[in-house]
Amino acid sequence: MANQDKINELIEKRAKARLGGGEKRIDSQHAKGKLTARERIDILLDDDSFEEFDMFVTHRTKSFGLDKQIYLSDGVVTGHGTIDGRIVYIFAQDFTVFGGSLSETYALKICKVMDMAMKIGVPVIGLNDSGGARIQEGVRSLAGYAEIFQRNIMASGVIPQISSILGPCAGGAVYSPALTDFTIMTDQTSYMFVTGPKVVKTVTGEVVTAEQLGGATIHSTKSGVSHFLAESDEENLLLIRKLMSYLPSNNLEDPPSIVTSDPIDRLDDILNEMMPENPNEPYDIVDVISTIVDNGEFTEVHRSYARNIVVGFARFNGHPVGIVANQPKFFAGVLDTEASRKAARFVRFCDAFNIPIVTLVDVPGFLPGTGQEYNGIILHGAKLLFAYGEATVPKITITLRKSYGGAHDVMSCKQLRGDLNYAWPTAEIAVMGAKGAVEVLEGSAIRKIDDADEKQEYIDKKEDEYAAKFANPYVAAKYGFIDDVIEPRNTRFRIIRGLELLANKKEVNPPKKHSNIPL
Ligand code: HXC
Repeated sequence: MANQDKINELIEKRAKARLGGGEKRIDSQHAKGKLTARERIDILLDDDSFEEFDMFVTHRTKSFGLDKQIYLSDGVVTGHGTIDGRIVYIFAQDFTVFGGSLSETYALKICKVMDMAMKIGVPVIGLNDSGGARIQEGVRSLAGYAEIFQRNIMASGVIPQISSILGPCAGGAVYSPALTDFTIMTDQTSYMFVTGPKVVKTVTGEVVTAEQLGGATIHSTKSGVSHFLAESDEENLLLIRKLMSYLPSNNLEDPPSIVTSDPIDRLDDILNEMMPENPNEPYDIVDVISTIVDNGEFTEVHRSYARNIVVGFARFNGHPVGIVANQPKFFAGVLDTEASRKAARFVRFCDAFNIPIVTLVDVPGFLPGTGQEYNGIILHGAKLLFAYGEATVPKITITLRKSYGGAHDVMSCKQLRGDLNYAWPTAEIAVMGAKGAVEVLEGSAIRKIDDADEKQEYIDKKEDEYAAKFANPYVAAKYGFIDDVIEPRNTRFRIIRGLELLANKKEVNPPKKHSNIPL
């Protein structure tokens, strides 16, 4: 064969590989409102940055007539490219080839990019769209999944791992995304479940659709499996790019900073007036966050799940931070099982990847009741407590209003190695609110009063006395538990100054195999 013929052969093979399962299946993918694996990669990565690996890999199965069905790339497109100039490794499952199902060689391809990413210290992004284990390959496919899981586990906390769900993701296959740091699902075209609707019906009799069982809405609101919900494949992929802008490439690097035009010393007068006079009146904590961060840009994680706490990424003076904030707009910002778990996971992610944590506190306490106790609020609350106490990244806490009881301790208090703890003058830092305190402390005195009006008058008086004495930031400040009481309008620049101060912070936990966080 002449040299040019050999080159032509290569060009032909590449063109064939790029067609995946063929035009008909590509059309069918488009008809479902989905993009193909390669179209997704084009959107995700910087232009012309993708370099593909293992394009000529094929499966090794001969039974079930598969020896006559050979597709170059074998159902998964792998390689590396850049996002905003930073290297990432990527795998994109190709539903047009055997429904994107995972074979032994397909798993090897994914493992190869994961190993390379670990060696180089760069993120791995997985675009999932697969019918699960390739049934014809049997246990070799299961082994392939386990090889991937093991790598997900080893990479956890070393390099960021992001999973997009852009089609089916079922059976044990769901555990690879679950082991990664962030999962992004596309509405209506993606779903995740351990067992599908048919099995559910057979085993439990429950009749449910795939969407109801494991659609993007369910996992973004009820289960918390998905961190973000996207309206389309394109939005899903662009979200990954945005998320990446806050993350370092590995756990030894600092997150990427950018130059901001937002002044660092601007005063936000609006904050001096935003706290309602009535301490029980709700407000939207996201308004406070948007006011203080660079250019009002806040990328909220888990926006529709456990809405009584808000977590997400923003920047101060161009430097990424993780923000954790109680949300008085939902259930008065109370801590419950889901909110504790959501925030704990986020705090641990930030700590693993050197992202400072800014905590905004307005929490009336933990949600009481059998519902919470039976669901293990003790263990879930302990997760958040543990996460904050274990974190060694810079931690700045601002108490806006309520900070009561155990929830005060949990929300990055001074004794959990909070580096800078500030409070607004509207802060109320105490063991409990006036109502509860008076009920306990004045119970016997109240019982001795027969006249109802007189009784209420006495309770009101005692509550006012208690509030005047304890519902303020100065008792905590007197003991140094609060470093300073600040004017709300100064919050932005006090945080920025604090982050500058803490930029070279070094805090090391004692050597150990690993901690034993309550699960
Ligand atoms: C081999 C598969 C396949 C699979 C789909 N295909 N899933 N081939 N192994 N797991 C093939 C189909 O035969 C079909 O080929 C093509 O992909 C497209 O599939 P369709 O069914 O036509 O597509 P659609 O109607 O969109 O349905 C998609 C689907 C369905 C819902 C994913 O295909 C399905 O239910 N597949 C099986 C899912 C499953 O049970 N997987 C195993 C789970 S157990 P042709 O040639 O006809 O076009 C598991 C264990 C993992 O994954 C454990 C890890 C620890």
